[in-house]
Amino acid sequence: MFIRYKKTFEKIAMGLLSFMPTEKDIKKLQQTIKTYETEENHQLFLWKEEDDIIGLIGIVKRSEGLIEIQHISVNPSHRSLGIGKSMVKAIKEMFPDSTFIANEHTDGFFQRCKDETELENGI
Ligand SMILES: CC(C)(COP(=O)(O)OP(=O)(O)OC[C@H]1O[C@@H](n2cnc3c(N)ncnc32)[C@H](O)[C@@H]1OP(=O)(O)O)[C@@H](O)C(=O)NCCC(=O)NCCS
Repeated sequence: MFIRYKKTFEKIAMGLLSFMPTEKDIKKLQQTIKTYETEENHQLFLWKEEDDIIGLIGIVKRSEGLIEIQHISVNPSHRSLGIGKSMVKAIKEMFPDSTFIANEHTDGFFQRCKDETELENGI
């Protein structure tokens, strides 16, 4: 399940964000986390299973009804178990009236999730 980011999760969130190719530089990482803490249209959700936080999704509300997935990351020890896809599904369910888009850094996986949904729907 998703929990909303708060300051007490800063270290774990930065650790997970650092798996994104764009967040390798510590200064950039600090800037990114600050943006999620301060900008109202930037929101970070952490994926908790049992007592562990093992993934995250960061979104930006671009305009009314349009949400961009900016960051998506899963702890390497928990990859290829369907968590990434579950997170994409859960974030879409959280904002059912919104259209979701990716950016150039999240599009690869986002498209992969989309294809599976389309397949399930027989499209
Ligand atoms: C992308 C990521 C979140 C996927 O998490 P996950 O929990 O392993 O995802 P799932 O188990 O739901 O799906 C795994 C599948 O996605 C594929 N996948 C992983 N990264 C991918 C990418 N960048 N583009 C397309 N497919 C990708 C895997 O090859 C795997 O395929 P398989 O099911 O045939 O084995 C994870 O690999 C990660 O944290 N990567 C580092 C951060 C990153 O680069 N994020 C942006 C990705 S575009």
